[in-house]
Amino acid sequence: MPRTPIVAGNWKMHTTVPEALALVEVMRSALEPITTVERVVCPPFVALWPLHERLRGTSIRLGAQNVYSEEKGAYTGEISPLMLAGVVDYVIIGHSERRHLFGESDELIGRKVRAALAHGLQPILCVGETLAENEAGATEAVVRRQLESGLAEVESLEHVVLAYEPVWAIGTGRPATPEGANAVMGRLRELIAVRYGAAAAEAMRILYGGSVTPENFPSFMAMPEIDGGLVGGASLKADSFVALVRQAAATT
Ligand code: 13P
Repeated sequence: MPRTPIVAGNWKMHTTVPEALALVEVMRSALEPITTVERVVCPPFVALWPLHERLRGTSIRLGAQNVYSEEKGAYTGEISPLMLAGVVDYVIIGHSERRHLFGESDELIGRKVRAALAHGLQPILCVGETLAENEAGATEAVVRRQLESGLAEVESLEHVVLAYEPVWAIGTGRPATPEGANAVMGRLRELIAVRYGAAAAEAMRILYGGSVTPENFPSFMAMPEIDGGLVGGASLKADSFVALVRQAAATT
């Protein structure tokens, strides 16, 4: 069974609510007919509900950029999986900006993944090494640790998506090479096979993220282990996001 590609736009801390609505309005008619690719937009939290309403009845999916691990309680400023259930399909967990700017631990990320799944949300679990780790030859050890802790309490991978985002490639205009990313993702798939079996590994979608543009994306999509993109900057312009989705569709 071929894996359905996913192109997910991580809007990060960009767009006011009116800007988010305007952006999705421009993309919507172009994205709607491309049904061989899952198209996901991940705006800031405050835009989720208005976009949920605007995208109701379409096949364009919504994702959140983060979630907390608890259902409710005295956690000022946090958003719970209970609040996101029924509003979004996906949630990005363990993005490198969460890990490195906000000090999220492997252990917390594992709890978030478990909480998301318990509420019917599909985690997009991000892993990736820093430049120093890469230069020290530690890429495999780092992504393995992040994978194992992220999935520590996960029994079935049916609703999990992985994203390999080398930290040094994010927002730098310096993407990984398609071959290099493919090799790391192949290794991730092998690790998954050991723990969850060959069928689960074969079915797992693994996205590449880090300076994806319409200029470089076709060569990533041509790689056997790469099932789509988790896109930052290029997802904030309707033209480039639609172009990326079309490129992914051309591989199906
Ligand atoms: P850029 O595409 O802007 O490099 O961001 C990648 C990313 O972090 C997506 O989550």
